[in-house]
Amino acid sequence: MWTVALLCCACAAYWLWSRKTRNTTEPPVLPGAWPIVGHALRFIGDSCHLWNKVNDMGNEIHDLGGVATFRLGPRSLYFLTDPDDSSTILNTCLEKDDIYEFGKPYLGEGLFTAKLSIWKNHRKLLNPAFNQSVLDTFMGVFNSQSRKLVRELEKEAGKGPFDHWAYIRLNALETLGLTSLGVDFTDLNLSTQYLEAVEIMLSTMIERFAKFWWHSPYTFAFSNLKRRQDASIKILHNTANTVLQKRKSELTGNVCSERSVIPGTKFKAFLDLVLELSAEKGAFNDREIREQVDTMIIGGHDTSANVLLFTMILLGSYPEAQDKAFAEIQEVLGDGDRDVEKTDLSKLVYLEAVLKESMRMFTIGPVMARKLDKDVKLKNYTLSAGMSCFFSLSAINKHPMWGPDVHEFKPERWLEPGRLPDKPFAFAAFSTGRRMCIGKSYALMSMKTTIAHVIRNYRITADHTKLKLKMDVMLKPVDGYYISIEKRT
Ligand code: HEM
Repeated sequence: MWTVALLCCACAAYWLWSRKTRNTTEPPVLPGAWPIVGHALRFIGDSCHLWNKVNDMGNEIHDLGGVATFRLGPRSLYFLTDPDDSSTILNTCLEKDDIYEFGKPYLGEGLFTAKLSIWKNHRKLLNPAFNQSVLDTFMGVFNSQSRKLVRELEKEAGKGPFDHWAYIRLNALETLGLTSLGVDFTDLNLSTQYLEAVEIMLSTMIERFAKFWWHSPYTFAFSNLKRRQDASIKILHNTANTVLQKRKSELTGNVCSERSVIPGTKFKAFLDLVLELSAEKGAFNDREIREQVDTMIIGGHDTSANVLLFTMILLGSYPEAQDKAFAEIQEVLGDGDRDVEKTDLSKLVYLEAVLKESMRMFTIGPVMARKLDKDVKLKNYTLSAGMSCFFSLSAINKHPMWGPDVHEFKPERWLEPGRLPDKPFAFAAFSTGRRMCIGKSYALMSMKTTIAHVIRNYRITADHTKLKLKMDVMLKPVDGYYISIEKRT
C-alpha cells in the first residue's frame, strides 16, 4: 500500500518537474516516457526489435515536425529526422556524442571516434590520402578483387538461392586490407578470425546501447559483455600490430613504398602514407597509426559490403533495373572482358543511380549522434548546449519530401532533374558537414567496379520483400542475404 502511494507521488512529482522545466523553445518530448526509465523500455530486446523501434520512432518524429526529445533513463536526448535542421547541427557541431565512447576500446582516437581537439588536426592530415589521384591508383586492386569475386561466385551459379554475405564481405575486407595496409589477408590467413572478431565487437556495442545500465564504464566493467568484447579486441589489435610492425621493418629496410601486392598494380597503401607522415612530421605514434588503420578497415569494408549486398538483392528483385544496368555496362565497357577504367566510372550513370537508390532504401548507417557544444537555433526550436543529439539518416532518406513513391525502388529518380528533393541534405547516406564520410568516393568507385563485373557475368534473381532487418550498429538482414545467380552467355 505504502509502496503504491510512494510510486504515485514519485510519478506526480516527475510529471510536475518535467512540465516546470519544459522550455517552450525546446522540442516536444516523445509521448510514452515513463518516470525514471523514460523511453528506455522501448529499446530492450534484440537487434531486430531495436531496428523496428528506431524505425517507428523516425515515423513518430516526422509526424511531430522532425525534432523531438526522448529519455534514456536519466538522460534526455534530441532526435532529428528533419533534413534542414540536421544539416544545421552537423555543420556547426563537430564533437561526437559520448555514445561513440563505446567504440573507443577498439578504435581509440581514430577519425570516427576521435574527440574534436584531436580530430581537427588528424582529418586535415589524412584528407590527402583520399584525393582522387590516390584513389585512381586503387583501380587495379578494385578490378582484380572484383574478378576474384566473380570466380568465387561461379560455384553457386545455377544452384538456386545462396547467402552471398560470406563472399562479398570477405572480398571487401581483402580489398580494404590491400588498400589500407598493403597486405593480402588471404596470404596471412587472417580474414575469418578478423571478421568474427569485428562481428562480436559490433554486436556488443549495440547490446550495450540498448541496456542503459551498462552505459557507465563502471557497471560495464563487471559484465560478461565486456569480457566478450575484450577477447575480440585482443584479436583485432594483434592483427593490426603484426601488420604494422612488419611494414615498419620493411620500410626501415628501404623496401619501396609503392606496392605491387597484386601483379600489374602499383599503389601506395593508406598505412604507408600514415607512416610517411609520422616519419616526416611526427604526426602519429604507433598507437595512433593502428587506430587510424583499424578505423579505415572497419569503416570501409563492412559499409561497402552491406551496400553491395542490398544492391544485389534489389537488382535481383527488379529485373528491369538490372537489364538497364547491364545494357549500360555493355555500352560503356563493350562486349569483351576488359577492366573497368577510371574514365568509365563517370559514364556508368545508371549504375550510380542504382547504388544511391539502394543506399536511400537501405541506409546501412541508420543513426548517428553529435554532442552539442553550443546552443543551436533551428527552424522552430533552440537546442541546448551539452545535450546529445541523434539523427536518423534512414528517416531523412525516406522523408515525405521524396514524394509519394518514397518507399519504392526507382533509380530513375536520380536521373531526372527536378525529381529529387530540393534540399542540400536530402540524401543522407554519407552524412554531411566537415565530419561526413571521408571514404565516399572510395566506396562509390569500388562498389561500381564490383557490380559492373558481377552483372556482366551473372544474372541475379532475389526477393527483397522477404528481408527482415536488424540494427547491429549497421543495418543488416536477420536471416542472411539470399540471391540466385545464372551465368550470362
Ligand atoms: C557505402 C559505403 C559507406 C557509407 C554508407 C559510409 C557512411 C558513413 C557515415 C554516415 C559516416 C558519418 C558517421 C558519423 O558521423 O557517425 C561515415 C564516416 C566515416 N567513414 Fe564512411 N561510409 C562508407 C564507406 C567508407 C569507406 C570505404 C571508408 C574508408 C576507406 C570510410 C571511412 C569513414 C571514416 C574514417 C569516417 C569518420 C570520418 C570523420 O569523422 O572524420 N567510409 N561514413
